Amino acid sequence: MRFKIISAEEAAGFIHNGDVIGCSGFTAAGCPKAVTEALAKRAEVEHEKGNEFKIGLFTGASTGDSIDGVLARAKAIKFRSPYQSSPDLRKAINEHELEYFDLHLSELPRLLRQGFLPRPNFAILEACDLTDDGKVILTAAVGIAPAIADLADHIIIELNRYHPKALAGIHDIYDVKNPPQTTVIPISRVSDRIGKPYLQVDPDKIIGVVETNRPNETGGFVPSDEITQKIGANVADFLSVEMKAGRIPQTFLPVQSGVGNIANAVLEAMGSHKDIPAFEVYTEVIQDAVIELMEREAVKFASGCSLTLSRRALETVYSKLDDYKKKIVLRPQSISNSPEIARRLGLIAINTAIEADILGNVNSTHVMGTRMMNGIGGSGDFCRNVELSIFTSPSTAKSRNISAIVPFVSHVDHSEHSVKILVTEYGVADLRGLSPRQRAAIIIEKCAHPDYKGLLKEYLDLGVKGQTPHHLGACYAFHRTFQKTGNMRDVNWKDFQ
Ligand code: COA
Repeated sequence: MRFKIISAEEAAGFIHNGDVIGCSGFTAAGCPKAVTEALAKRAEVEHEKGNEFKIGLFTGASTGDSIDGVLARAKAIKFRSPYQSSPDLRKAINEHELEYFDLHLSELPRLLRQGFLPRPNFAILEACDLTDDGKVILTAAVGIAPAIADLADHIIIELNRYHPKALAGIHDIYDVKNPPQTTVIPISRVSDRIGKPYLQVDPDKIIGVVETNRPNETGGFVPSDEITQKIGANVADFLSVEMKAGRIPQTFLPVQSGVGNIANAVLEAMGSHKDIPAFEVYTEVIQDAVIELMEREAVKFASGCSLTLSRRALETVYSKLDDYKKKIVLRPQSISNSPEIARRLGLIAINTAIEADILGNVNSTHVMGTRMMNGIGGSGDFCRNVELSIFTSPSTAKSRNISAIVPFVSHVDHSEHSVKILVTEYGVADLRGLSPRQRAAIIIEKCAHPDYKGLLKEYLDLGVKGQTPHHLGACYAFHRTFQKTGNMRDVNWKDFQ
């Protein structure tokens, strides 16, 4: 190999205070680990000496602990975008230790290329193979790797032997140019391949290769419980009714599904439903449920940005890689999350809400309107553009002291104009074609927890006139009561009129 093998510490030594780093990966899949850990240690040493040491950080989405966790604990991040799910980084963001720019994931490569965001001067890419002329085979995700490799002055490769070289062929690397050079992205079927199986980088930019042998830091999923199973069954039953009514074709539509345990339970319920045929997945995160359904031939093909799999599920894929390469493709997030393709393929998108209001607005990001949870992720890329946008949530949180159905969301990520279907463990509210007052009635009836139905009806009875039943004094009564007593059920409308 023409490139110099260096230690993670040597690689971190190239990076200085104020530099901007871009990393490959999407979720904890496909992320570098060793160099960022060494970077965090370097920051701690510099801080002990009284020196400033903070970097700007872009990744595809969330990462494993060895990027966001270690760097947040080392207080080494100056700004961060576009998404995270690390408890330590979340705490640092909410305590104003750094600036966090929460962004639709499909947009990040374009904003970087436009120069709207600070240009990454270092790209750290996890690869399973590379050639002397700069052909990089990425590992279990693609993320923003094409854009950062293009923009960075220097590239550091983490050559991770845990991932087989035979992954070559699973990726489809195609990047979108900025206007006015933008052309149609030529994907009209989930399984279309339009790019190259490798990432071509300028070999002269590669300043070193760090050899590692480490699995992804993806955790397993919590087994589905009674609530997530009911949510899954409600979604699956609703979709089968839509199919019988002819609003979803008999061949079904490709499915995008969000991250987490609810998404896994929904896919599981859809795959087990007697009336739902084997379907295709066009999504960002390929989770365990997709692999389990592929094993049962309930999912025919999956296009995504990452294999965010438990170790067991990833080993299933790696043990039959030739077979899986025929039915999985990994794309950059500008393609996996492209609004253009979401609209063309007519996706069914299923994402999770923190809270939804009786008008149909959804908050996916902020607890009590102020504290960042993770970020909008890809939910907005899909929600506004798909054929059918579904949001799921348990009807309550925190021992039922919080209602997930509120008079008005404390933060808006997805508006009433884009959210089509709301689902909790209690039922399904189909909001299509309904006025605000009709939406409020059906959301309370079908989705609210019985403890909160009466209170939500009382809110509607406050006598507001106009197209939208929105009481400016009382719309945050649930949240303000929770802040005061720790229980939304204590709401007293007299305090808010
Ligand atoms: N108020 C306060 N806290 C709430 C809440 C509410 N209304 N609703 C949920 N929570 C808390 C839960 O109690 C839980 O807290 P814990 O971690 O202390 O136990 C936490 O939020 C996560 O909720 P959970 O029910 O476990 O759901 P989840 O893990 O599926 O996450 C989102 C839900 C909304 C946070 C997550 O899906 C997300 O970040 N979505 C935005 C990005 C996205 O949609 N990506 C996919 C697009 S392709």
